[in-house]
Amino acid sequence: MLSKRIVLVLCVLVGIQACDKNAEVIEATVVAESPELKIDADSFVCLNQMTAVRHYFVDNLSGDLAATVAAAEATDGAVFPPGSVVQLVPTEAMVKHKSGWNVATNDWEFFELDVSAEGSSIRNRGFADVVNRFGGNCFGCHIKAEAKYDLICELDHGCDPIPVTREMIAGIQQQDPRCAD
Ligand code: HEC
Repeated sequence: MLSKRIVLVLCVLVGIQACDKNAEVIEATVVAESPELKIDADSFVCLNQMTAVRHYFVDNLSGDLAATVAAAEATDGAVFPPGSVVQLVPTEAMVKHKSGWNVATNDWEFFELDVSAEGSSIRNRGFADVVNRFGGNCFGCHIKAEAKYDLICELDHGCDPIPVTREMIAGIQQQDPRCAD
């Protein structure tokens, strides 16, 4: 019979895989070491195919849509999970990378898209240097949101306002050219 102490030493020597109780730790490690999130033009779809949360749309490229929706629905702010996609209008998107990917942007990457009936193409992507077609720097505005909101601006989180009303935004959302069937 192996004593508990020897089993413990074996676990350490052979690696934590030998210990069932560490299965959760192993899983977490594998997720953390998974390659960068793959994001290309096909990651962005017609807004109607995303999930509407109040006035904007969300998706999750890593399959954890429920966690993204929960973060979006939290009225007092929440940290969005990796894989989250957030869009207010068809041509601008924020995508959340894995934790630690870019500390300055809370792991968000900003995208400016070109959209047409053929789909999306990426015009510009990055973190602090992406500028929209009106000359505004995405990060420069979104970083002003109070920390608890994870760079989500809405109307009252501390960002500089955009000159587009919610009514106009609803119209722009309905005219997403990618939604034509
Ligand atoms: C002038 C400041 C400003 C700039 C520049 C800007 N945004 Fe925003 N953004 C806002 C504000 C304010 C809202 C909220 C509007 C609302 O809820 O009606 C918003 C909303 C959003 C949302 C919906 C979630 C949220 O934060 O409320 C996304 C996604 C987004 N912007 C992405 C971008 C991207 C990508 C760029 C650059 C290509 C960009 N924004 C440039 C201020 C800005």
